Amino acid sequence: MYEPGLLQIVEACRGKNLFFSPDVTKGIQEAEIIFVSVNTPTKTYGVGAGKAADLKYIELCARQIAEVANGDKIIVEKSTLPVRTAESLKRVLHANSRGHHFEILSNPEFLAEGTAIRDLENPDRVLIGGDSTPTGCEAIAKLKSVYASWVPEDKIITTNLWSSELSKLVANAFLAQRVSSINSISALCEVTGADVDEVARAIGMDSRIGPKFLKASVGFGGSCFQKDILNLVYLCEHFNLPEVATYWEQVVQINNWQKRRFVHRIIKTLFNTVAGKRIAVFGFAFKKDTNDVRESPAIDICKSLIEEHAEVIVHDPRVKAEVIINKISEALGTNTIKIENRLTVTSNPYQASIDAHALVIATEWDEYSHLDYVKIYQKMQKPAFVFDGRSIVPNKQLVSLGFEVYKLGQPIGNRI
Ligand code: UGA
Repeated sequence: MYEPGLLQIVEACRGKNLFFSPDVTKGIQEAEIIFVSVNTPTKTYGVGAGKAADLKYIELCARQIAEVANGDKIIVEKSTLPVRTAESLKRVLHANSRGHHFEILSNPEFLAEGTAIRDLENPDRVLIGGDSTPTGCEAIAKLKSVYASWVPEDKIITTNLWSSELSKLVANAFLAQRVSSINSISALCEVTGADVDEVARAIGMDSRIGPKFLKASVGFGGSCFQKDILNLVYLCEHFNLPEVATYWEQVVQINNWQKRRFVHRIIKTLFNTVAGKRIAVFGFAFKKDTNDVRESPAIDICKSLIEEHAEVIVHDPRVKAEVIINKISEALGTNTIKIENRLTVTSNPYQASIDAHALVIATEWDEYSHLDYVKIYQKMQKPAFVFDGRSIVPNKQLVSLGFEVYKLGQPIGNRI
């Protein structure tokens, strides 16, 4: 796992006030506060499959805590959960309490991958939700005091349990909605002559809109946005709010459309066929500064290109070849041997571009802005195309070298 700054923190704290242990019972018995941070993936089976969160692991934690606890505990929901999960947890815990008191708090995590340590050290806010009973208030104060050792008091906000649980899903939904909004506008820019980066800059300077999360892209990825929106959609359907469900589902649909649109653009530009053509895909992680590939748009891009019989060569500075091959095979529903002659992974971006008809930028790794594009151009087939799904390559320089550049959200047909 690659996360800038994480190794240094672990090295500095391990054995002092950070310990790793497989002994869960001992951990539960010794702790006053227990953070439950298990996975809550989208359900793949039964009722709510494809949308609802799978709460199996959360419930197992609650049962285990109740079973081995030797005193009162504060249990903190750190995992992202559907609103009102605490209610189910309370019921499981209280039904098995053996006389101990369990207080449940919700304390969702807002850090983003790639900037996790910075976000942890300097969060925009810390959210704590709990009951307004005397024991609830006492638990909230205790957790607040943990954060207060490095987070200013005015950034620690407290709410009821349900607001806190729901705020996590809503925060991610709003962030993803901004990306889908700007991505939808990128399509309009391409046909009208507007430039999406200029539009984003112009609207982002309105302090009511703000500049963040307005970067047009080949689509958002990661383990959270899609999962959390689908979870929100499921909740709205469950509470019989179909209009609200449809509204949020559209954010995911635009994201899927943007990925398809990008691949169609590649095929159309390459004279309506990529069959037998070598295409170098730069970047496989869902964003820079992480090696996480979950829901990465690069998976869909590679899958579609391979389905069109292209020969795909992937480079990513941090993702292992094995992970890339497995992910693409999984997406194609085939075994790794079958795609061996269609897919190569290389650790050298220059190697990837030899004889390539096109370069496709799928992740915004900084190094892709500084490659020796003269060298790359010389080795590529002509015309040499670049499809920039992250808007990071020096377009003007590339055009002056002879490349044909397609940048998301820039007028089509005009050389930049
Ligand atoms: C997201 C949220 O930003 C965190 O606050 C939250 O804690 C986390 O999910 C979570 O629930 O665990 P993360 O998915 O790690 O964090 O990364 P983001 O920076 O939000 O990026 C998500 C995706 O959106 C990436 O694929 C990124 O490339 C894309 N994106 C982001 C854009 O395409 N354009 C933008 O302007 C911003």
